[in-house]
Amino acid sequence: MRIKRVVLKNFRNYSDLTWHPHPCLNVISGDNAQGKTNLLEAVFFCMAGRSFRTSRDREVINWEEEGCFARARIERENFTSSQEISVSMNKTGEKFFLLNGQKQNRGKIFQPCLSVSFTPTDLDLIRGSPSERRKWLDIELGPYDYKYFYNFNQYERVLSHRNNILKNYGRGNRSKLTEMIDPWNDQLFLYGSLIINSRINLLKNIFPQLKEVFSDLTGGKEELTFNYLSSLPLEKGTAPEDTVRLYEETSKKKINEEIARQQTITGPHRDDIVFFINKTDVKKFGSRGQQRSVVLALKLALMRMFYREYGEYPVLILDDVFLELDRQRRNGLDNLLRGEGQVFITSNSSLREYFSGRAGFYRVEKGKIYGGEN
Ligand SMILES: Nc1ncnc2c1ncn2[C@@H]1O[C@H](COP(=O)(O)OP(=O)(O)O)[C@@H](O)[C@H]1O
Ligand SMILES: [Mg+2]
Repeated sequence: MRIKRVVLKNFRNYSDLTWHPHPCLNVISGDNAQGKTNLLEAVFFCMAGRSFRTSRDREVINWEEEGCFARARIERENFTSSQEISVSMNKTGEKFFLLNGQKQNRGKIFQPCLSVSFTPTDLDLIRGSPSERRKWLDIELGPYDYKYFYNFNQYERVLSHRNNILKNYGRGNRSKLTEMIDPWNDQLFLYGSLIINSRINLLKNIFPQLKEVFSDLTGGKEELTFNYLSSLPLEKGTAPEDTVRLYEETSKKKINEEIARQQTITGPHRDDIVFFINKTDVKKFGSRGQQRSVVLALKLALMRMFYREYGEYPVLILDDVFLELDRQRRNGLDNLLRGEGQVFITSNSSLREYFSGRAGFYRVEKGKIYGGEN
């Protein structure tokens, strides 16, 4: 998949931009605060329908304007003609998606997302709280199961009702609470266990790619494994159909604690993943370099998963991370950097010594882009 043209209007500090990126490798350099990350964010915005650096998408609208759009013309492997994706947004944060000029619903265009991004803050995926890892599961991996998004939304809805009931009736009469909460429990257990089963299944699916990528990145010296850490007492052999029952049993045992804390304390919204390198917990004991390798591996494995599914690579975005990777890890990126997929890299320096002759080199200055020679 390749982006042929990007058009931006009032996107961050790009008031008006038309850009024809290099088909393989785009190296974007420039001083601080000129718009390098903004440009990658815009590319990602077109390919994912959201930002990679904020959950408040409205922030991407230029401060002095009422709305913005980002548009990309892309060529895909199995399509005879190119496609145009357009994402526009108004001040209220409402987004509109067009595919070839026709209004289209988001899931139809970006399921899963057509771009994978790797930025310095992605290190939070390992170093941060469990919610960071759940976000990875829900947003990046979830779309590979077409029912995931629906089940996830149902679960969130039920969870929020149930938490409200615990808040409002938890301190009062117990039979009233039971009467209120019972009708929600079955749905909670149902959708919650569907999500847990999906996650475990998705992790199982991505594992071979992850193992392979990680071994490439470390020259075969290190082995990456992980555990899905559930708030339910799942065991290795737990059959998917038993998850509901386990959820129900665990939840029953925890009801007093739930009342005391006024919230639902078991379920997929409390789960986590632990990563191990050679059996050692990476979050607790890994070096920064190892943690970065795991994140890179998760991203590259996602790209291979996309490839397996669609026979082409999604667009890869590397914001300020290239120089932080050592030689071995850079080599691990090599297939992608040698033209199998289109890549966008930002850096303070021009990186000519690495990519001379096979990349377009661009300079960004105050929301304008210059250059493009090989
Ligand atoms: N919504 C916005 N409207 C206008 N300018 C913005 C907006 N958001 C960020 N900027 C400007 O973008 C610049 C930062 O761009 P960025 O791409 O992060 O820089 P860098 O080149 O260092 O990656 C800053 O000058 C900031 O003021
Ligand atoms: Mg930046």
